[in-house]
Amino acid sequence: MFAVISDIHSNLEALTVVLEDIEKRGIDTIYCLGDVIGYGPDPKQCLDLIIEKTKWCVLGNHDYASFYEPTNFNYGAEQAAFWTRDVLENEPDKALRDKRWEFLGSLPMRHTCRITLAGTEVATDFVHASPRKPINEYIFPDDVYTNPVKVQILFEKVEHICFVGHTHLPGVFLDEPDFYLPSELGDEYPIIKDERAIINVGSVGQPRDKDPRAGYVYVEDNMVNFVRLEYDIDAVTEKIIAVGKLDNFHAERLFEGR
Ligand SMILES: [Fe+2]
Repeated sequence: MFAVISDIHSNLEALTVVLEDIEKRGIDTIYCLGDVIGYGPDPKQCLDLIIEKTKWCVLGNHDYASFYEPTNFNYGAEQAAFWTRDVLENEPDKALRDKRWEFLGSLPMRHTCRITLAGTEVATDFVHASPRKPINEYIFPDDVYTNPVKVQILFEKVEHICFVGHTHLPGVFLDEPDFYLPSELGDEYPIIKDERAIINVGSVGQPRDKDPRAGYVYVEDNMVNFVRLEYDIDAVTEKIIAVGKLDNFHAERLFEGR
């Protein structure tokens, strides 16, 4: 069994609830698809938990933005990236400061492996955004109707299964192309031989599918299970509003899941 989490966005309250749920299920292998930081008020605590609790993590565009530079960010996201960088730079404990920067600076763009699920070996890719452009390319559910060729081209890069985050919209893409919401799948998708899938695990700290609950997936045997959990949104939004340099919109959107 393993869990895949993504897009925490410095939301400690959501991350804590998700990690507790994973532990309750007896899962001790956690993979992270990036965007640990950005938007939210607790970058240090979230980085420390991800370093401690996950087996590995890949690089997200917001991690890139704070460590290197923001690219194609709107004003609010860019301000959040610079504020996050300040917070990390102003950490007085040198060992902690170095540990976090070294973690951010060494995140790979992709993790590829073969996993045995219910007796079948599954070629699995883990990226933040897309198999073609692992840090920045959005794969939206609507793309299967508005840009099917794009989705088909993306599937040329997928040997069998690719886990992604980035859009904060959970669900499963098949190579028809097709897209299925977790609710259309009964919140579970079976990984089967000869069916390629791009699986979006959703977002821990900033869901955008109109459901404000924190999201992640865990895989048991060959079944991908989509999980949603309530958390203390008031607590995180109060902290966002208290930080003058974080746009209040980053707080408001959490209540609506957008
Ligand atoms: Fe994100």
